[in-house]
Amino acid sequence: MSTHIGAEPGEIAPRVLLPGDPLRAQWIADTYLDGATEYNRVRNMLGYTGTYRGTPISVQGSGMGQPSLSIYANELFRDYDVRQIVRVGSCGALSADLDLRDIVLGMTASTDSAMNKLRFHGLDYAPAADFALLEATWRASSSRGARTVVGQLFSSDSFYPPRPELTTLLKEHGVLAIEMEASALYTLAAQYDRQALSVCTVSDHIVNGTQTSSEDRERTFSDMVEMALDAMLE
Ligand code: ADE
Repeated sequence: MSTHIGAEPGEIAPRVLLPGDPLRAQWIADTYLDGATEYNRVRNMLGYTGTYRGTPISVQGSGMGQPSLSIYANELFRDYDVRQIVRVGSCGALSADLDLRDIVLGMTASTDSAMNKLRFHGLDYAPAADFALLEATWRASSSRGARTVVGQLFSSDSFYPPRPELTTLLKEHGVLAIEMEASALYTLAAQYDRQALSVCTVSDHIVNGTQTSSEDRERTFSDMVEMALDAMLE
């Protein structure tokens, strides 16, 4: 096992779906994977491997925020030789063109986190999604009900922003939505020369203050997971 994942080598598939919530990982495994078996319970951060249309796929909870996601992404890439991670999560919309339940494919992810400032000695690195994965997910989105857009994410360390005026500045520079993980995921995928993408459903609108209901979130979550799974089969 690795430090935080209790799987033996070979028990995790090369392709991994990464929801923040471990109970979502369990739901994805129960709903979409054939013959799913649980490989991780450490800290209740559940992980499962099964097959989707005959292809081995794992699904692993990551927790919230870049420090937690980085623990799991590092260990998946480094200790289990995972080739592809698609995060499936939620985001808060900044763009007036986005509605609740729309899906955003994160092409790039700026951040207010110090993680990359430290890693790059103060340089501004530009974390970006893997283009092949992005393009495959974009194509897979066309057969789903939810409206899907591609663009810039902002990965914040704070769910409750200490300086709300900064969100206006981000919006003015084309950022579509705020979430809390993509920047670290894209950076780690680049470090290990692997593929990563963050797909997120708009769960709340930061500008107009509206929010989805839990039933809405469940319905859109299925669209998002299905397009990610279809893209991973390519
Ligand atoms: N995830 C979902 N909504 C969010 C928001 N408003 N800010 C950061 N992450 C989010």
